[in-house]
Amino acid sequence: MKVAIIGCGFIGKTIAEAIHDGTIDGELVIVFSLKKSSAEKVGAICDDVVIADSLRDVLDSNADLVVEAASIDALKNYAIDILSSKKNLMAMSVGAFADGGFLKRVEKAARENKVKVYLPSGAIGGLDALKSAQAAELREVSIVTTKPPKSLAGNQYLRDSGIDVFKIKEKTVLYEGNASGAIEKFPKNVNVATTVGLAGLGPEKTSVKIICDPKIDKNIHEIHARGDFGEFTFRTENLPSPQNPKTSYLAALSAISTLKKITSHIDIGT
Ligand SMILES: NC(=O)c1ccc[n+]([C@@H]2O[C@H](COP(=O)([O-])OP(=O)(O)OC[C@H]3O[C@@H](n4cnc5c(N)ncnc54)[C@H](O)[C@@H]3O)[C@@H](O)[C@H]2O)c1
Repeated sequence: MKVAIIGCGFIGKTIAEAIHDGTIDGELVIVFSLKKSSAEKVGAICDDVVIADSLRDVLDSNADLVVEAASIDALKNYAIDILSSKKNLMAMSVGAFADGGFLKRVEKAARENKVKVYLPSGAIGGLDALKSAQAAELREVSIVTTKPPKSLAGNQYLRDSGIDVFKIKEKTVLYEGNASGAIEKFPKNVNVATTVGLAGLGPEKTSVKIICDPKIDKNIHEIHARGDFGEFTFRTENLPSPQNPKTSYLAALSAISTLKKITSHIDIGT
């Protein structure tokens, strides 16, 4: 598998390292990032990696699969071109798919070009059970995300609402609504809410609560689902990446695991 990486931050770098040390059975052929210096750093992890000047270089490359680890805007702008160039896509900025129209366009492009789109579980667990449960009636799906102030810093919606997360002294609910509204207001913090939505009842019908807790240092996600199967609760307490506190380490590990699954001959789990 020849891999291209778009977005050379924490997740992009972790994937390049996993290719270099053989954890992923693949070859990194090209990297692209808005800041060329980050692309150069990540490209240098493996041998003979081309540093792209633009998306065009990625589209013209011999990569079989493009990893998007950049941003929701990047995914929205690049996805159709990537699929039309007959390359598979693994997307980390899953929040882009809360836009149902975009999801349909991506599905159509993948079908027409006979390629696949992979959406890793990211920073959460429990999606295997949720996908199984969805085969019968599913009545209720919710996710409660609790983060320390540093994981929510720089959020435009909070700034516009006059909320300084570093002044929060007690556990405070910052958002309560559905997954579509959550990703609109917190585009860098709750991709997982969209992933839960896509695997279950859809982003519109998935309940989301976002809480800031100044007394914790982990990103905590608790998913609850109820339906014909019974009910389950899945809780993860994630360590944030030291490089980007908005991103949990588990999200990068999930990207590695998805890439391993693509090349492996035995596929475990739903
Ligand atoms: N699915 C999940 O559970 C999950 C979990 C964590 C992070 N994420 C998402 O994954 C993405 C990557 O996360 P990260 O922690 O590596 O982020 P990061 O901020 O560390 O790195 C992102 C990199 O992408 C580059 N970039 C941004 N826009 C770009 C564009 N239009 N074209 C090319 N490069 C661009 C930036 O320069 C930066 O180097 C983010 O969108 C993040 O929200 C998803």
